[in-house]
Order: sequence, then structure tokens, then C-alpha cells
Amino acid sequence: MLKNVRLNNYKSHKNTQLNFDNSRLHALVGKNSAGKTSVLQALYNLCKLANSEFSQIFKKDQSPSFITTIGEENMSVLASGFWTQEESQYSWGVLYTFSKENYGGWLPSLAWKIDEKEITGEGWEHFSGWDNSLIKSPRLIHDYLNYAVYLKLVAGNLGKAAYSDEITPKVETDGSFLLAPTLDFLRDEAPEKFELIEEKLSRIVPNVRRIGIRRAKVPVSRQRFIQADGKRIFYEETQEMTGQEVILDMNTGERIPAHAISEGTILTLGLLTVLMNPSQPNLVLLDDVEQGLHPKAQRELMTVFKEIIADNPNLQIIFSTHSPYIVDELVPSQVHILNNSNSGFTVAKRLDEHPDVEWAKQTLTTGEFWDAEGEEWVVEGEVSD
Ligand SMILES: Nc1ncnc2c1ncn2[C@@H]1O[C@H](COP(=O)(O)OP(=O)(O)O)[C@@H](O)[C@H]1O
Ligand SMILES: [Mg+2]
Repeated sequence: MLKNVRLNNYKSHKNTQLNFDNSRLHALVGKNSAGKTSVLQALYNLCKLANSEFSQIFKKDQSPSFITTIGEENMSVLASGFWTQEESQYSWGVLYTFSKENYGGWLPSLAWKIDEKEITGEGWEHFSGWDNSLIKSPRLIHDYLNYAVYLKLVAGNLGKAAYSDEITPKVETDGSFLLAPTLDFLRDEAPEKFELIEEKLSRIVPNVRRIGIRRAKVPVSRQRFIQADGKRIFYEETQEMTGQEVILDMNTGERIPAHAISEGTILTLGLLTVLMNPSQPNLVLLDDVEQGLHPKAQRELMTVFKEIIADNPNLQIIFSTHSPYIVDELVPSQVHILNNSNSGFTVAKRLDEHPDVEWAKQTLTTGEFWDAEGEEWVVEGEVSD
């Protein structure tokens, strides 16, 4: 699992360190533009390096000239944690950096280390250049980071009827996936998982009785070509295929097709399907987790997350939220508060670093404590009374 992340000169993070407790469920809270999404992105970029070279990941809006703090000439993201394999525990560390070169370009570098003890500053393997990735890193690091997903689920996309010709539909690393074909696959190949999804969904959204999948027409566009004078001329052809769509049986006796299912319900179903997938992720990064959910459903979602984590010893979930109902279901050491300091950079503290935390634990819920104290106490330096 991931224990520690350190961001240097990553967007608004001049020098941010997050230490995760052992619960494997962690919230990032704080005002808009405090830097929550940036933390998830920095981590997700690291995970993508498991299979892709720097040149494939750090382009467009993720290029070093955008993600490096304005005015700075280098940035770094360092992550470390541990991994238990055959009853032994190993520590691992991975670092990626960018630095500006004399001619104005950016040079990436990557470093890693594994150890049976704590990770120290010595003995790291270093690689510089745009064609590096973690493909050659020790399996332990590669396999851990390879199963990470970043999700900002979009209800409209999940609700669409979909067609998949893959044998095992899977969640794309960017969080987009074909909900109905994936559920259909699970129902046939992993019925116990399918039942768990159904059971957990009906607890978060009590009116749902059963999840169904029915056949639906889906337009699928394919690229084709014709050969003319030895040249290929490409064109798009849209074909109507028989795909699938999710349909929910409600307690009222109604059957609701996915496009008409409420946004919160379809997002919850999407989330559960990702978490319960047989090719289960180790690290799940979720942005704005409460979208569209009633306070009661938000609380129930956290209960479900805790159950899924308890059943899956490798799974860790880091999410951003603005909801005190969600924070209420956590203890202070699970809540990371991000704040913009006077200098405009992010400062992060864990809610259990607050000087009054012991008093608050006796008196207030975690959500009430956060609500009462806000973010203003999160400033540079040690916290004092
Ligand atoms: N290159 C950069 N240098 C400095 N600050 C940046 C850079 N790119 C983005 N930012 C700032 O970082 C913040 C990003 O916030 P974000 O992570 O999206 O916050 P949240 O998810 O908490 O709303 C914004 O305040 C933005 O102005
Ligand atoms: Mg955000």
C-alpha cells in the first residue's frame, strides 16, 4: 500500500507531504482549487509510468511546462509504501522528476528502490530521458502501480447502451469503461461478484431490487479503408450492433433503463463495478466522490467502501470530497485537509494534527469537527493552540 506522497513544485504544491494511515481509505478535503485533484493526478501519472514512457504521458495539459509550478525549473513526485508478498513485507519507493535544461527543454528522470527495511536515501536506481518507464522496474513496484485507476465517472457515459467485442471487458485506466458489457460478463463469469454489487447497490439506493442487462441497439463506428491506385483511403462506417444496456428492477415494480436511472444511482453502480471487478485495482483514485448522492446514500457509500476494503487486503482508496456526511464516516487520521497558504501554495495537514483533536473526538463527529474548524488552521509550520 501507499504510505507517503511528496509533491515538490507540482502545480500549487510547492512542498506537500501526505502520510496515509493504515485504514486504506483516505479523504482529501479543502476549498476549490486547494490542490486536491492535483494530488490525484500526480499519483495517477506515476501509476501510468508502470506501462508507458514519459513521452506518452506527459504531454498536452500534463506536460512539464504546465504541471511545474509557475516560475520553477524542476518538479518531483515521490511515493513510497510497502507491499506484502508471501508473508514478507517489502518497502518500495518511486520518484519522477522534471528539470529544465539550458536550451529550454525538460528532462524527465525516474528512480526506484525496494528494500526489506525502511526506504532510505541510498541505493536508488536512476534513469533519465523521455523513453523511460517503470516497465523494467522490480515486479513488486510494477505490479502494484499497474493496477491503479483514476475515476471521475460521468453518469451520461455510463448510462449509454454499449457494445464490446472484448472477451473480458475491463475498466480502462482512465476510468472510462463499458458498464453494461462489464456487468454482463460478471453475471456469467463471476456471479458471486455480481450478487455483491446488487446487494451493495440496493443498500446505497434502497429502491433498487435487481440489476438486469438487456439487449439494445448500439451504433458502433469503425474505421475502414478502400484501396485505390495503391493508396489506402480511410472512411468511417457506422454499423448498428446488438449491444447491451443496464436496466434496474425497482421495488415499485418498475423497470428503469439506464439512460433514465438517476445520476447518483448510475455513478454508484459504476463505482461498485470498478471496485468489484475481478481484475481488481490496488489503488483507486476518485475525484469528487459524492456527486449526485443524497446524504444518507453518501454515508452508506462509505460503509460499503469499508466493507470492500476489509474483503480486499490490497485495495486502497483515495478520494476528494466536499461532503461533511462523508467525512463523518471517517476518523480524523483519514482526513487530509488542503489549504491555500498566504503565499498561494498548498499546505496540507491531517485532521488528527489539530491541537484539539482529543477533545473533539469525545465531543464532535469528524464532520462536525471539520465543519467547525474549517481550513484556516492549516498553515505552514507546526500547529499550535
Ligand atoms: N503550473 C502551475 N503553477 C502554479 N499553480 C498552478 C499551476 N497549475 C495549476 N495551478 C493551480 O493549482 C490549483 C489546482 O487546483 P486543483 O488541484 O484543481 O484543486 P481542487 O481539486 O482542490 O479544486 C489551482 O489553484 C491552479 O490555479
Ligand atoms: Mg478538483
